[in-house]
Amino acid sequence: MRLDKYLAQSTGFSRKEVRRFMKAGEVIVNDEEANNPAIHISEDDEVYLSGYPVEAPGDKYLMLHKPLGCVCSNDDGTHPTVLSLIDLPRAEELTICGRLDVDTTGLVLITSDGKWAHRVTSPKHKTGKLYQVVTADPIPQDAVEKFEKGLMLINDKDRTKPAQLTIIAENEAEVILTEGRYHQVKRMFAAIGNKVEELHRQRIGDIELDEDLEPGEYRFLTEEEINSIK
Ligand code: URA
Repeated sequence: MRLDKYLAQSTGFSRKEVRRFMKAGEVIVNDEEANNPAIHISEDDEVYLSGYPVEAPGDKYLMLHKPLGCVCSNDDGTHPTVLSLIDLPRAEELTICGRLDVDTTGLVLITSDGKWAHRVTSPKHKTGKLYQVVTADPIPQDAVEKFEKGLMLINDKDRTKPAQLTIIAENEAEVILTEGRYHQVKRMFAAIGNKVEELHRQRIGDIELDEDLEPGEYRFLTEEEINSIK
């Protein structure tokens, strides 16, 4: 694909604007300034605009390791948003697939593909989300059955869908949910008289949080990870 088309489709700038960037020396292809809009760009080329990497046009699929103190909304007056951690043009237009609370850490999937985002979040698709939980009080064995049967949460009309609880230690467990109600994990533990002290999302479907990602870091998903969401 021609460089000007590649840049325009990827960033949303018009071709005229893109050519202006080229003239100003703002476009770098494989470490060299590029000012010919007609050169051919292939998959292996590295393209930068004003110092930012420009991904190939098409949908974007990312995983991010959400740090504490960051919110999963597009705008928040008080806290930084996860999208502000994404160093891509028009990152603020991306969709966050399922929100984590400000005090929850872990895996967040972010995309420009609305249908894919729906498959990640819709309970109909039964994509399991695995949470690691540390609680204030010991977790009794009968909680496993209660989570499996579903719990009535205050202000909700229906029981929660079956959730798989695995007790790891007295105050530690893993929970797999296929839905994403407001503060669901915290409210489920509250419903059995306990309190969540720490919460971390480790996996969504078959997509595991990459252990090389420090809190605040992100990477693009592989084809296999993208296609694993059915
Ligand atoms: N459940 C919660 O209570 N909080 C989260 O951030 C995610 C699931």
